[in-house]
Amino acid sequence: MCGIVGYWSETENAFDILLNSLKKLEYRGYDSFGFATLNNRDLMTERKVGKISDTQCERLPGNMGIGHTRWATHGKVNEINSHPHKDCSGKIAVVHNGIIENFKELRDYLEKTGHTLRSETDTEILAHLLEEGLKKGMSLKESVIRISNLVRGRNSFVALSSDTGEMIASRNGSPLILGITNGKEVFIASDIPAFLDKTKKVTYLDDGQICCIGEHLEFYDFKTGNQVQKRVIEIDWKAEEAELGDYKHFMLKEIMEQKETLISAMNQNKEHLIEVAKRINGAKGVFFIGCGTAARVCHIAEYVFSKVANKHINYITASEFENYEHFLLPETLVIAVSQSGETADVLDALNIAKRKGCKIISILNNPGSSMERISDYTFPINAGPEKAVASTKATTSQIAVVILLAYACIENIKEADRILLDLSGKVNDMLNPRYEAHIGYVAKQVYKNKDIFIIGRGINYPLAIESAIKLMEVSYIHAQGFAGGELKHGPIALIEKGTPVIALIAEDKTKEEILSNAMEVKSRGAIIIGVSPEKNEIFDYWIKTPKVDEVASVIANLIPIQLLSYNIGILRGYNVDYPRNLAKSVTVR
Ligand code: F6R
Repeated sequence: MCGIVGYWSETENAFDILLNSLKKLEYRGYDSFGFATLNNRDLMTERKVGKISDTQCERLPGNMGIGHTRWATHGKVNEINSHPHKDCSGKIAVVHNGIIENFKELRDYLEKTGHTLRSETDTEILAHLLEEGLKKGMSLKESVIRISNLVRGRNSFVALSSDTGEMIASRNGSPLILGITNGKEVFIASDIPAFLDKTKKVTYLDDGQICCIGEHLEFYDFKTGNQVQKRVIEIDWKAEEAELGDYKHFMLKEIMEQKETLISAMNQNKEHLIEVAKRINGAKGVFFIGCGTAARVCHIAEYVFSKVANKHINYITASEFENYEHFLLPETLVIAVSQSGETADVLDALNIAKRKGCKIISILNNPGSSMERISDYTFPINAGPEKAVASTKATTSQIAVVILLAYACIENIKEADRILLDLSGKVNDMLNPRYEAHIGYVAKQVYKNKDIFIIGRGINYPLAIESAIKLMEVSYIHAQGFAGGELKHGPIALIEKGTPVIALIAEDKTKEEILSNAMEVKSRGAIIIGVSPEKNEIFDYWIKTPKVDEVASVIANLIPIQLLSYNIGILRGYNVDYPRNLAKSVTVR
């Protein structure tokens, strides 16, 4: 949800570095982009509509600057609404990520006091409020502190002033991370891949803090105004993990990486698994929460815990969590599942849980994220940077950690290790060029359809819903997932000659019933794509998956669906890495 970059150097030209960094954050928003640099106290700006990687830019001079790639919230996608936004004097430029909740009243106030606002965005008011502070004789730092306390909601921004020659960042909600090198240059960005090729030494700005960026970094708590000391930590991501390499798309690269990421996900602190398992076993209520695909992982967790640990856990879409607030006790456990660790709805839910005294556990990919910092225990899924907007490798790694946790609850982590090792070996064998070509062939049979339905039973039911998310977001075909038994209670009315129905099948007790459900739609004209270890005569097309343990079948069945979605999206001519209207990290409610 918008990407921010900033760069300061003693000597270097900032623009090329900002451009390179911003291209790496394109997955966060790709409606429009812009830059501002300071060149001998001249503030230069450039703003463009479209994707940064498809657009020619003019190089701006100067050794410090800011950049922004936008996912529109307030105002249309056009140049005027693109960041950076400036004040009336044109001497302050601001890039922003978040939503200013009291935007209307602040805008009315500014207009009444004589400011001319040019855009429809909430961001622009930040530049004018900073201008007001400077006019009242405040330093830029004081003015940033003042407005950080004035605006409500999750807001992070970086301001650049040509009057004072300073760059200051403020974080409240959306992530901002500093990349530190040798003291001669400093990076700041919404996500680490923006500067991963330059440095692995990072400092996370916390919520409620500002940072004055330059030769010496100074951090302040914006509530108290007190200076704070920060730690520099070294992260172990590899720069090439965030690059395309030989692949045409991140989505395909990340699907293929599942050969390795399932193994990395197994690399968990065993003591933590045991401690958290004890808490799960003793808890008064366990809630798994997440959004979108991560919410589907929570739904899958319900089946995994039921089957493996004979335990009922609740899964709730994070944006609905507040409705369950009255069930929360200090002995309740809330387990967040998230790739980014920054999703606003999940953070809101966790804050509710925290207020109620619940213990918070998280299953996350992004190290140092906001969720990690409010969790009592974190299980890192170790999938490496996931850049395609559609989540693939993070999803299967999250499911792997759920399986480990469920087995930890019955004191049998060894069995989880066995299941996951067996699975990852078979996934490795499955993802070969012949398999890819076959899925490409199946994609060709269905890519012109307007609807696709997916059915599953048992643990493959939540997977049917996740499959629909994958198909919809990259192919824009209407897709819907159902429990096999539900079709005849309504949706079967939509089946006509040639409608593709994907049946997700595991070698478990639901197999015969889901085949009957597939038969019910086939006899009404549907084309059946069976995703299963064994062929069946009712399939029009068969996508073979390996025979694995029942709880692992969701991973084995999901990977070909990810590949199918990718291929359909490509056949329909879409940019599968950056689907329309979406953004990778959803930091607004
Ligand atoms: C779909 C997808 C989204 C995310 C959701 C939560 O492919 O990626 O549905 O799963 O926005 O994001 P995280 O996992 O970062 O909390």
